[in-house]
Amino acid sequence: MDPVRNPYSPGAGRKPAALIGRDRQRANWQTVLERVELGRSPQPVVLYGLRGVGKTVLLSDFRRTAADRNWIVAQVEAGADRTLREALGEALHDPLADLARPSAGRRLLQALKTALSFKASYDTAGTWNFGVDLSEVAGGGADTGTIETDLRKVVRDVAAAAAEEGRGLAILIDETQDLRADEITALCAIAHAAGQDDWAVLFAFAGLPSLPRILAEAKSYSERFDYELVEALEPHLARDALVEPALAEAVRWAPDALELIATQSRGYPYFLQQYGQATWDGALADPIDLADARAGAAAGRAALDAGFFRARWDRATAKEKVYLRAMAVDGDEGSGSGEVASRLGRRPASFGPVRASLIAKGLIYAPEHGVVAYTVPGMASFIDREYADR
Ligand SMILES: Nc1ncnc2c1ncn2[C@@H]1O[C@H](COP(=O)(O)OP(=O)(O)OP(=O)(O)O)[C@@H](O)[C@H]1O
Ligand SMILES: [Mg+2]
Repeated sequence: MDPVRNPYSPGAGRKPAALIGRDRQRANWQTVLERVELGRSPQPVVLYGLRGVGKTVLLSDFRRTAADRNWIVAQVEAGADRTLREALGEALHDPLADLARPSAGRRLLQALKTALSFKASYDTAGTWNFGVDLSEVAGGGADTGTIETDLRKVVRDVAAAAAEEGRGLAILIDETQDLRADEITALCAIAHAAGQDDWAVLFAFAGLPSLPRILAEAKSYSERFDYELVEALEPHLARDALVEPALAEAVRWAPDALELIATQSRGYPYFLQQYGQATWDGALADPIDLADARAGAAAGRAALDAGFFRARWDRATAKEKVYLRAMAVDGDEGSGSGEVASRLGRRPASFGPVRASLIAKGLIYAPEHGVVAYTVPGMASFIDREYADR
């Protein structure tokens, strides 16, 4: 079928043609936005799950919903080479610049001044010009160098400005597990303060399945956060994720073809998109039939192996690959780290650095103490395939 019209979108954070199976989470987000607008401060929302289940896509959907309600919205991705301070500061610039005007209310002017001081705290060379004279305005002081103090000031002042304009402030953080420990602690403390004083701010944190534990270790208050496990789609929803994008292009799936791809993808959104894309590209005519689906499943798996899995596998060093391979015996369910070590004939402690490095690279996580698991569904069989023909 015409590849130009291919409606499937495999790829990190790529908006699917149809966002399937997240109605509950979206309705919940809508509710908490409305609560903030009524002056009540809800708990942060935490989206956690394996790689490729659709956390980023859902977070971006949250961002759009908030933006549609005219909220001040800052979305950042942790990790890379930026601190939270810098990432958040830069993300706040555009929404604040959009609101800046000489006739702005007192709280907005104060927020602008505080944001300027926050900017100065990580960028001594640059400054912002909001085109507004702030010399007589109160505010500033978000440049003490202590992340919790500075972040608290800027969040409080921007939230107050948002409230003054009848809106809220949404702060969305992706890959939250990659934040530094002091940054996570600061966020938890600020969420706590916001909840106590009803600041017009709403946090959403997305990350790997280890995120709830990381938050709990940072501050006990985080136990009250609103945790949402983002999972693979149930079979009927997996079918919808294939059918709906095609229908929008007036193309149908034969039931047996649909069944095959929904099953092979095991409902994982990334896999659905990849298999869907491959099947579409190879299909000769409408409707997509079983032969198309068989060819698409093979092509889709090859594409996953060459991309989704390969990209992660290649990030591991030779030593780390040995460790990952020893885990594969247990499938995707996770392995006791003592067990893995004994398979390799060494003491568990001697693998501490390898384990830590694999966790830092986001390839494995610790579901609980003494257990390790792949962050990617299907990694165990990829590793099996990798070594099968050697
Ligand atoms: N609800 C959904 N329905 C259909 N497709 C989806 C859905 N959610 C995500 N996808 C698709 O799945 C793929 C992965 O989505 P996304 O990047 O959001 O996953 P993720 O959980 O953030 O993964 P990672 O942990 O690697 O960042 C994308 O191709 C996206 O289009
Ligand atoms: Mg993501």
